[in-house]
Amino acid sequence: MRLIVLGDLHFSTYQNQAENAARDRFFEGFFRQVAAHKADLVIAIGDTTEGGFVDQLAYQTEIARQAGVDLVRILGNHDAYNLDKSEIARFFLGEHTSAGSPDLYTGFEAGPVRCLLLDTTRSKNPNWSGFVSDEQLAWLGQQIAAHNRGDLPYLVVIGHHPIFGTTDYSANRWYNIEDSRPIQAEFAKLERQPAFYLCGHNHSNSLAGPDAQGWYYVQVGAPLLCHSYGLFTFDEAGARFETVDIDLSDPAFRAASETIRLAQGEGFNGRPLAEMYGLDRDHRLVVPRR
Ligand SMILES: [Fe+2]
Ligand SMILES: [Fe+2]
Repeated sequence: MRLIVLGDLHFSTYQNQAENAARDRFFEGFFRQVAAHKADLVIAIGDTTEGGFVDQLAYQTEIARQAGVDLVRILGNHDAYNLDKSEIARFFLGEHTSAGSPDLYTGFEAGPVRCLLLDTTRSKNPNWSGFVSDEQLAWLGQQIAAHNRGDLPYLVVIGHHPIFGTTDYSANRWYNIEDSRPIQAEFAKLERQPAFYLCGHNHSNSLAGPDAQGWYYVQVGAPLLCHSYGLFTFDEAGARFETVDIDLSDPAFRAASETIRLAQGEGFNGRPLAEMYGLDRDHRLVVPRR
């Protein structure tokens, strides 16, 4: 089973038509490269759009589909800034219905993997840190207990915000799920290792773990900043994660990428690109099958 994880895409609507044209050119090319892997699942890890508006989500869906990608989105803080979750629910979780409301979260099986998609966002709240409701926490506990009793070899939990103190910047204020302790208490109940927690939000590539309970932490960088995305492979040999560099060899495609990266403004571009891309240790993870 191959799973592609796209970091924060921040699909925006710009005032300048040249920037909108660059956005279309970049995302058409980007999704075509993603589609070429013919992965079983493509998950966009939140902040898929800049403002979570219906027109942005619908247009991004269309560009992805035309390129051959059926995006499965989870919510990021940006997606939840402007509209109620119920208004944009149809663009999230792919074909899966949410296990709760108003938060959008679900679980499903994909080959040897039990996938849990979390919603770590606050709704229409300027606080961009992560938050997980008691209802969702209880559901997560039930899902981990069910995994412990089951026979699938891998558990993969995917949320937009990092767990405090794991991957790069996750100890910074608002760069994490604000109170990560209840989640870690649920994670500690894992009885069958390994398990993976995948996140975005901090825009840099970073790997951490395993911790004492056998959890690996995979933070996938924003493609516009890192020029990469994540690819997981689960097979007889085990689980592997690698970052895939976007092919920027076409000058027009590269120029489009740079145009929209810069159009995202200073906040988005606050750190050097090399720092966001990370080191060798942030790009590859191999966990042999037990
Ligand atoms: Fe983001
Ligand atoms: Fe975010």
